[in-house]
Amino acid sequence: MGVKVKNNARPRAEASTGATFASRVVQWQQLHGRHDLPWQKSRDAYRIWLSEIMLQQTQVSTVIPYFQRFLARFPEIRSLAAAPQDDVLALWSGLGYYSRARNLHRAAQQVIAEHGGQIPREFAALLALPGIGRSTAAAIAVFAFGERHAILDGNVKRLFARRFGIAGYPGDAKVMMTLWRETERQLPSRNIESYTQGLMDLGATLCTRTRPRCELCPVASACIALATNTIKLFPAARPRKTLPQRHTQMLVLLHAKHVLLEKRAPTGIWGGMWSLPEAAADVDIVALCKQRFGASVATQQAMPVLNHGFTHFKLDIAPQRLLISAVAPHAAAPGVTWLTLEDALGAAIPAPVKRILLAIQAN
Ligand code: ADE
Repeated sequence: MGVKVKNNARPRAEASTGATFASRVVQWQQLHGRHDLPWQKSRDAYRIWLSEIMLQQTQVSTVIPYFQRFLARFPEIRSLAAAPQDDVLALWSGLGYYSRARNLHRAAQQVIAEHGGQIPREFAALLALPGIGRSTAAAIAVFAFGERHAILDGNVKRLFARRFGIAGYPGDAKVMMTLWRETERQLPSRNIESYTQGLMDLGATLCTRTRPRCELCPVASACIALATNTIKLFPAARPRKTLPQRHTQMLVLLHAKHVLLEKRAPTGIWGGMWSLPEAAADVDIVALCKQRFGASVATQQAMPVLNHGFTHFKLDIAPQRLLISAVAPHAAAPGVTWLTLEDALGAAIPAPVKRILLAIQAN
């Protein structure tokens, strides 16, 4: 993994012009690709690393404001490493996949402790940092250090599966190996930055999952999926296992314009974030509020159910709006806090909690 490619075989020219796959991608990127993304303005490894982590599983347009806010608060790796985890998670709130933020934070501390504050240039050392997999390490190596490595993110998997007719579900280890082999085979010896950015841009803007714009694609003339009219079959979908459905109630305790939040365990779903207390459907909520928070419930009102999708299960959330008439004075427990709605909305809270609090605020 992560070794530089021995690229003896010259990639074959596409169609009749003599241009290779890579040269077409490079030329297209230089003319039609994206050149003004905020992280393209520098070769600063910290900025590039942050952007690549945010861009895992998240679109460019969503990432940009988060990227800018994050950098305004943590302009360099030292300030990130020194920050409390809560502050890091708060700036990630709404982007999802919070393990990315926790890993980023840990990795920053590791870079300070083990690499003197410099993001390592060596591929194996990049790969050893929390949250950096093979494709992310390659993207950082390309954009920050101009090194020649192959990337393979979701968009690139789709592009390669179609162009080279690679069948099978890319989550499958064998299919994945075939994809990696092909991405390494196609690496150009020059213009690695334009090539890599070009793959990302093609995948995000032309070779999209639905309705690809093949008429604009620079590699369409040799695209196997296009030639065989099988674009819909590439990449093959994940063999369908229906995800388990889970249910929970979220308790919105409201008292004197404050809402109660609870800190979640440091690992697992929404680890380390502030959230609303949860209860199973059959739990006596009034008794729970009294026992756990010393809170007397005056009224209880069910709010509309929300659905939230995780990688491995689906969760429906039934929020209960609870007006609290009194809180026992000595009821404060560790990991529990009462915040104004405004402060709660600014804290590190999961997206569905944010939606619930915004609905409360609007009423
Ligand atoms: N997706 C992942 N990395 C990206 C980048 N550097 N630019 C645009 N989209 C990306």
